[in-house]
Amino acid sequence: MGQTRLYLNASRDEAQAIFKLLDARFDEEGLPISLFEADEENGRFEVSVYVDGNVEQVAGEMREALASLPREPEIVEEAVPDIDWVAHSLEGLTPVRVGRLLVHGSHDRPLRRIGDVAIEIEAGLAFGTGHHGTTAGCLKAISDVLKRERPRTALDLGAGSAVLAIAIAAMARIPVLATDIDPVATRVAAENVRLNGVGSLVETHTAPGFHHRIFAEKRPFDLIVANILARPLMGLAPDMARHLSPGGTLILSGILERQRRAVIAAYQNQGFRHMRTEAREGWVTIQMKR
Ligand SMILES: C[S@@+](CC[C@H](N)C(=O)[O-])C[C@H]1O[C@@H](n2cnc3c(N)ncnc32)[C@H](O)[C@@H]1O
Repeated sequence: MGQTRLYLNASRDEAQAIFKLLDARFDEEGLPISLFEADEENGRFEVSVYVDGNVEQVAGEMREALASLPREPEIVEEAVPDIDWVAHSLEGLTPVRVGRLLVHGSHDRPLRRIGDVAIEIEAGLAFGTGHHGTTAGCLKAISDVLKRERPRTALDLGAGSAVLAIAIAAMARIPVLATDIDPVATRVAAENVRLNGVGSLVETHTAPGFHHRIFAEKRPFDLIVANILARPLMGLAPDMARHLSPGGTLILSGILERQRRAVIAAYQNQGFRHMRTEAREGWVTIQMKR
């Protein structure tokens, strides 16, 4: 049987309160819970619980856990497509080549050429197969930065499938911390890291923003890449400044062209210098230095 996503749509503050209550309720059972911005324009967020069976029972437990909220939120049920189905839908897509980097699915292994840094990623629950304009933009920026700089450590925040962390580890052979707010993404990331043979370099953790003790242990980072969305990225600017080495490089994506100025301004306020912006499919990838 496939997985089911039980989710609630709410404002930012409501969603954070819901996430806290559900996280406390399902922590012991180890049910994956995620919180993400579903509609940036209208500031709507979704809190999801992923269930393998007993959907009714979990929905009931969610209602109980949320009973203290001022109004009863609506729980929506959605079937999560089977991985096989998603992988099948990837078959028609072409692999992504950015310089020496080739991101491809398992069916495209024969396309690897000598000298390629090949990364194998299957479409799964976690975002990031390389096809999205933001991921491709980050891969290009990483490739450019590694041509001129020699970072000793890196962070991929909002790692999704960990495609960017794997690219950095494979090209620069340096330790990379890969974190994501979504435990499902972290699980897929860890699997991809292992599959691509960079398990000794890439460490994966579930963490919202910089809220995890691992950051204090590993900082500062010479290179940080974060492909999230404009609004959370602006909120993360002070923490980014605290975690990037002086002279380090920051790559940001998930930003629409019209949001570019606001994001750059938020980072300039924290002492960052804008280096370059590249646009792809309506999204921009910004490189900054501190
Ligand atoms: C657009 S995807 C990027 C995935 C991958 N890095 C790529 O470039 O293809 C954004 C990821 O950021 C994660 N995310 C969103 N908000 C976050 C936050 N505040 N802290 C950590 N991760 C976050 C999401 O769960 C999602 O996996």
